Amino acid sequence: MAKMFHHSLLLVLLILSLFINHTEQLQSSQAQTLFRIQGLLNFPVVLNSWTKNTDFCDTEPSSSLTVVCYQESISQLHIIGKRGAPLLPRNFSLESFVTTLVKLPDLKVLTLVSLGLWGKLPGKIARLSSLEILNVSANFLYGSIPRELSYLTSLQTLILDDNMFSGQLPDWLSSLPVLTVLSLKKNLFNGSLPSSLSDLENLRVLALSHNHFYGAVPDFERLTNLQVLELEENAFGPQFPQLGNKLVTLVLSKNRFRSGIPDEVSSCYQLQHLDISFNTFVGPFPTSLLSLPSITYLNIAGNRFTGMLFENLSCNAELEFVDLSFNLLTGSVPSCLQTDSEKTVVLYARNCLANQNQNQRPMSFCRNEALAVGIPPHQKKQKEASKPVLALGVIGGIVGGIVLLGIIFLISRRINAQRATTVKKLPTRLISENAAGGYASKILSDGRYISQTMKLGALGLPAYRTFSLEELEVATNNFDTSAFMGEGYHGQMYRGRLKDGSTIAVRCLKMKKSHSTENLMRHIELISKLRHRHLVSALGHCFECYLDDSSVSRMFLVFEYVSNGTLRSWISEGRSRQCLTWTQRIAAAIGVAKGIQFLHTGIVPGVYSTNPRITDILMDHNLVAKISTYNLPLLSENKVGHGILSSGSKNSTVNERVKHEDRTDVYDFGVILLEIILGRQIKLENEVDILRDRLQGCVAADDAARRSMVDPAVHKSCLDQSLRTMMEICVRCLVKDPADRPSIEDVIWNLQFAAQVEDAWGGDSQSSDGSPVSLSPSQSQKLSFH
Ligand SMILES: *[C@@H]1O[C@H](CO)[C@@H](O)[C@H](O)[C@H]1NC(C)=O
Ligand SMILES: *[C@@H]1O[C@H](CO)[C@@H](O)[C@H](O)[C@H]1NC(C)=O
Ligand SMILES: *[C@@H]1O[C@H](CO)[C@@H](O)[C@H](O)[C@H]1NC(C)=O
Ligand SMILES: *[C@@H]1O[C@H](CO)[C@@H](O)[C@H](O)[C@H]1NC(C)=O
Repeated sequence: MAKMFHHSLLLVLLILSLFINHTEQLQSSQAQTLFRIQGLLNFPVVLNSWTKNTDFCDTEPSSSLTVVCYQESISQLHIIGKRGAPLLPRNFSLESFVTTLVKLPDLKVLTLVSLGLWGKLPGKIARLSSLEILNVSANFLYGSIPRELSYLTSLQTLILDDNMFSGQLPDWLSSLPVLTVLSLKKNLFNGSLPSSLSDLENLRVLALSHNHFYGAVPDFERLTNLQVLELEENAFGPQFPQLGNKLVTLVLSKNRFRSGIPDEVSSCYQLQHLDISFNTFVGPFPTSLLSLPSITYLNIAGNRFTGMLFENLSCNAELEFVDLSFNLLTGSVPSCLQTDSEKTVVLYARNCLANQNQNQRPMSFCRNEALAVGIPPHQKKQKEASKPVLALGVIGGIVGGIVLLGIIFLISRRINAQRATTVKKLPTRLISENAAGGYASKILSDGRYISQTMKLGALGLPAYRTFSLEELEVATNNFDTSAFMGEGYHGQMYRGRLKDGSTIAVRCLKMKKSHSTENLMRHIELISKLRHRHLVSALGHCFECYLDDSSVSRMFLVFEYVSNGTLRSWISEGRSRQCLTWTQRIAAAIGVAKGIQFLHTGIVPGVYSTNPRITDILMDHNLVAKISTYNLPLLSENKVGHGILSSGSKNSTVNERVKHEDRTDVYDFGVILLEIILGRQIKLENEVDILRDRLQGCVAADDAARRSMVDPAVHKSCLDQSLRTMMEICVRCLVKDPADRPSIEDVIWNLQFAAQVEDAWGGDSQSSDGSPVSLSPSQSQKLSFH
């Protein structure tokens, strides 16, 4: 009986599933669209299960891939790639991707996370008119939020976290009638928040952490549904935001908030998580926060809260984390916080409390500081809690700020205007010259954006020519020892000065009689082409001949003299002098890569396997990186040449090297890049493997991990997106199998991307605090690649 029941149940299920399968059979055009998406995304691992036989509407949803159908049409699509996924290749076009995507017209929920998407989000995406939830976190999208999104009247959730969107938050966001979640964390947004945000009555979550917003937070008291407000790491302030009392999470840490905490916060009966750490709050610490009915996390560290704590204060029993450290508190830690429970963390170091088990300051410190906090200009008035005066002070500050911003704006407008007239011919883009770090951006502009013709012109070198021996003798003071620079495998080097005052480097080579003149001429022809911005360029040559048969006895190769030390001396040596900033490092890396690319493809036949090392990269007075060509073994016959080359480098056979010649240089470039990123000398080969593995770990890990690995000299001034891109490409250059390494073009492209990211935010922002005053007006937001 039971068995029969079982059978019939199976039958029913079978019929049912056939039925479902039938009705939920996806339209074939939509299946085609999915395959096309798979291709456009460069066949990511997460989509490996999509094959010809896949019945999309009948796939098991997973945490990384879900397709949901409704009436033969796709209504939900979630694709979540590997964390820290690299950029999609150069030929990826977000425009065509979105054009494909909008062929799924019934999409309501779209999640495209960590897929390496890059580009400007096209407004076309608004053709997905049913869209309710859009999450495109952890990609490389830039530019502003397209205005067309305002047509998405059903949009409830918009998540653009961890991209490179920039500009100000648009006013029209308030016209999205049902917007509930707006999350824009970790982008490059700036400006102050539009007050229209307070019209978003349905807003439940507003997360703007890790951007460059500044100024006052609009009045959010009307947002009665607001539960989560995250503003961490911006420059908001100075007044505590006005908020409704439904908040559950409030994160204001690392901003410019200053004024005391209003009493209303004590009425936030649902508040669980309150983080106001690392602002400049002054005034008495409202101890009632400890006993808010729902509070579990309270962090007020790194402010200048004053006041006395008593043992008999009461706290919420659910508290799990309390951090009071780095304030000016006196008295003793409430006994309700002195639990031995492992569940509860209580930190209170660096106050002037009586409890000595966490490092405390002397009482006098807090007293003096509290007085100091109380006395100077507007704080003094605050102490008397006279609101009008405080308000005046604040307004004064704001007005001052606005005036200052106005001035900055005018100046940048002027600069823009001047640029517009003087540099019109440059089709590519403009670089801010007054960016912190001075010539850095100039180099960038030269290195990255100037067109090919400009570059050739900018080479500024005299034409390649033949020198006479007399000329070289005069220049080097008859090859005097004082002019001697060194001797390598490939002959001696001398420094010299020509009559026109230019400095040269002369390489002398003794010739064997066996060298055929024909062969020699071929090499000279090659050398004469070694002229590039990122090579130590050849200026000419000179032959000295035997008198008897007029065969060549000595050959002199004349190069430009590059005087500013090696790249290593600017990275990991000579810490006493200023080392390269992060943007300068990216520029140097681009230079080296372009030099290699030129050796490969800029001349015929290409020069491969040159085994460039960081000590072979010379810097000129503008800090343009140039690959030294002094030692290129050009004179050797081809086969011998490879022998010589192999001797200095990796343990692979000559054959393999020939096969992957270009990828060998990519490996060597990776080693240089590694040193550039880490800022420490890399001398042993096995060290490279270890460091590569660690770097790889960092690529997938978080911001903090990456920052802990990069050269401490620059870790504050680089943006995470560029750091990640640099680390990523470095790891790829250093993979064991040459076939898996990127091409040099790919390398350059990624480096340029990293540079663009930095530039979009005005180069090295030396002050990491996001101060609007320290911003250099970035001239143009256009990202262009070529
Ligand atoms: C991009 O280029 C790769 C080869 O480099 C190719 O396999 C791929 O199909 C191209 N993608 C597009 C969208 O053109
Ligand atoms: C966006 O999607 C990713 C991947 O599912 C998820 O981890 C993240 O929490 C989502 N963002 C928000 C704000 O829900
Ligand atoms: C915001 O940043 C952009 C560059 O990303 C800049 O052009 C603009 O002037 C900045 N705006 C404000 C208000 O700071
Ligand atoms: C707590 O103790 C202080 C002094 O030790 C006293 O002034 C205060 O009244 C006490 N408060 C309560 C609620 O017992």
